[in-house]
Amino acid sequence: MILPIYLYGHPVLRKTARDISPDYPNLNVLLENMFETMYQAEGIGLAAPQIGLEDRILVIDLNPFKKEDPGCENFKKVFINAHIVERDGEENGMEEGCLSIPNIHEKVLRFNRIRIQYLDENLQPHDEVYEGYRARVIQHEYDHLDGILFVDRISGLRKQMIRSRLTKISNGIVHCSYKVKRF
Ligand code: NI
Repeated sequence: MILPIYLYGHPVLRKTARDISPDYPNLNVLLENMFETMYQAEGIGLAAPQIGLEDRILVIDLNPFKKEDPGCENFKKVFINAHIVERDGEENGMEEGCLSIPNIHEKVLRFNRIRIQYLDENLQPHDEVYEGYRARVIQHEYDHLDGILFVDRISGLRKQMIRSRLTKISNGIVHCSYKVKRF
């Protein structure tokens, strides 16, 4: 089922998401819906707050980037109760966008390397290190779990330049090819 994606300005995008318990109801259905919602919006990642849930759940599929980065091939993953425990390496700048902030792309600095602890879709624990593009996307999606959006990480000047467009989005004035929840 395709779910509406919550837009910039909705308070749920500013909440700190909670770990889920092992008896979380219909987890598989939720994960399926999250992937379906992400694919129809042509996204590569989606965090639960973007569909209105305050749960620490992320889905990511980087297959569209396999040509640019071989590490992205078959990188289709679920991160539950995700916690980044280390960030290091050089900080690199790269343009990012977000399904909750349509039509805006800005350069964001991110650490090149992260270590993340999480549960997979079968609730099995993992402790893994990622670098490069995978680390970037995980950090972007992970930020959603802490109520942080990529526009919080751009320079004050750039933020000023897009301020009126952000205000429009939070007022529901935005053109979007996918189903959204306007606040
Ligand atoms: Ni995003």
